[in-house]
Amino acid sequence: MQPFQYRHGELYCENVSVAKLAAEHGTPLWIYSKGYLLHQLRQIQEAFADVDPVICYSVKANSNLGILKVMQGAGSSFDVVSGGELFRVKAAGADTTKVVFAGVGKTDEEIRFALESNILMFDVESEAELDTIAEIAGSMGVVGPVALRLNPDIDAKTHAKTTTGKKGNKFGMDSERVHELAAKVLRDRRLALRGIHMHLGSPILTTEPYEAAAKKGVEIIQGLRAAGHQIDWLNLGGGFGISYRQEEGPPAQAYADVIVPPIKAAGIRLALEPGRFICGNAGVLISRVVFTKQEGGKSFIIQDAAMNDLVRPAMYDSFHRIWPVRPAVAMPADLEAEIPGCAPVDIVGPICESGDYLAKGRSFPPSQRGDLIATFSAGAYGTTMSSNYNSRCRGTELLVDDEEVKVVRRRETWDDLIAHEQTAS
Ligand code: LLP
Repeated sequence: MQPFQYRHGELYCENVSVAKLAAEHGTPLWIYSKGYLLHQLRQIQEAFADVDPVICYSVKANSNLGILKVMQGAGSSFDVVSGGELFRVKAAGADTTKVVFAGVGKTDEEIRFALESNILMFDVESEAELDTIAEIAGSMGVVGPVALRLNPDIDAKTHAKTTTGKKGNKFGMDSERVHELAAKVLRDRRLALRGIHMHLGSPILTTEPYEAAAKKGVEIIQGLRAAGHQIDWLNLGGGFGISYRQEEGPPAQAYADVIVPPIKAAGIRLALEPGRFICGNAGVLISRVVFTKQEGGKSFIIQDAAMNDLVRPAMYDSFHRIWPVRPAVAMPADLEAEIPGCAPVDIVGPICESGDYLAKGRSFPPSQRGDLIATFSAGAYGTTMSSNYNSRCRGTELLVDDEEVKVVRRRETWDDLIAHEQTAS
């Protein structure tokens, strides 16, 4: 499914003109395709159907209530990493008995909230956390359901800032400690060992790391079963890659092909935590050219979206496809090559930092003040990582369903910016 397509020389989201939406709602503007969110979830549901997994959409990728509601309605559960995310999924009507809770620094308040919410399991990242869950569960007279997070020391070949499953990262524990803590759980009535958790990194464009992780997870679970644990779950986390450039993102089936067979053979229940795979290519960020500028032998397009809206290029040097909404040159498949009729430009925002750019040295059609620009693959880690830096208001978010358009977050106002502040006197 292609949620964003050029028709008669202009960009559409499903069956709605993007230029029309920008005229009505202003820029910067986030547009999400409901059809594509559902399509991507279905790809995973179908590819893994053989082992009937619990798919826990990873809320950190895009936590907009409108999107959570779509996920909930289509049978997804949720992976949360904070009390705030748990609060959000409850507001979206989630069945909390299928929610998993990861993160290296859960506070007492968050642990208590999760126990009260009767979640499926905590992904436990340290002995100190395990002890704290036991204490709080004991004081509440409930049993704390835990999965131990294994750091499998697998190199997923992702960006240094997003790799999580290598020795020396702050996440998880080595297998020796996992076995030690499992023995501890067995002796503690306040805790129940539900599973083993792993998350290798994000995004991962090859299947080998998952193959290795599934094998390792199955081995450990079989060992724990032999030691007397009634342990059901292997949670392999998220990280499935998507196509930011061309067609580099593997289909869900490719991941399933290496994960399903060992899980099925061992009779283990599978949980997954996909975020980006579901919402990444379901969203675009629309901006408007404020000025163009030639200086120092370079050309700049200064538009009204900035690093406070989409920080990925500044933070990870990430590549996003960017093209005009009404282009003079049809969008080619390869936006990293030199493109006839185009010239190299830096596409930047108005923020007072040289790191404030969406792209550098891009071959881009001639542009002028007022033109609309689309930044693709912006549905994941766009709004959730956005800020009000430079006291900029975050833009409207729209959810499009065929011809129907819903505002799922209104644009912030200058009043919103100071709403929680007061002067000292
Ligand atoms: N589960 C756990 C435990 C995670 O830490 C993450 C992502 C996920 C699931 C979801 O991963 P996904 O399926 O979305 O790849 N801000 C970065 C990505 C950071 C990912 C952090 N953890 C970016 O913009 O690329």
